Amino acid sequence: MPLDIAVLISGTGSNLMAIQGAIEAGACDARIAAVISDRPAAPGLAYAESRGLSTAVVRPRAFPDRPTWDGALADAVAACDPAVIVLAGFMRIVGPGFVRRFPGRIINVHPALLPAFPGTDGPAQAIAAGVRISGCTVHVVDEGVDTGPIVAQAAVPVLQADDAESLHARIQRAEHRLLPAVIHGVARGDIGLGERPHVRTASEDDACLLSPPLSDGT
Ligand code: GRF
Repeated sequence: MPLDIAVLISGTGSNLMAIQGAIEAGACDARIAAVISDRPAAPGLAYAESRGLSTAVVRPRAFPDRPTWDGALADAVAACDPAVIVLAGFMRIVGPGFVRRFPGRIINVHPALLPAFPGTDGPAQAIAAGVRISGCTVHVVDEGVDTGPIVAQAAVPVLQADDAESLHARIQRAEHRLLPAVIHGVARGDIGLGERPHVRTASEDDACLLSPPLSDGT
């Protein structure tokens, strides 16, 4: 039976599109139960509607304070009863009330190899630090910022001519493979979330899946 997921977005939704694309291609055994955004203008919402996915918007400004918004967001997620909640470009920090309501069931994709470069500008931090390899991380969300247990990572090269934008674009291509692969792994029971996520790596091929080589020449 497919894994029911809720996908939370704030913007373009390219990771949402990658997940839905993998589902439609039969490569990700999941079902998107709802797409939820904090921004009504998020372009990813229009994509979700075009695919017939159910959507909801929970705007912070509609609530008197952060904890109340956080509670309403958690209620919107709980209403679709997902097994796993995927933060896919959700640009707000979910509060402790939210995290405690879905322990070990929330994952986030971050555009850096954590624990390096947490926060909002991972690619720019990587450029400023002069690292030669960066990438993306899928981690379980805890009450800190990008501090939760790491589930999977994919590495990409940082090229001499890169700026934050070109590096982020390369990292996103890796995200678009890694995130659906992780969701599929959870659906199959090959990846366990929680305090100490486990990835059952049976062969080198599986390891490649979790650090996908770039096939587009970059
Ligand atoms: C991704 O790079 C993700 O790592 C970061 O925000 C970006 C969202 O992109 N958290 P998109 O909305 O999925 O296109």
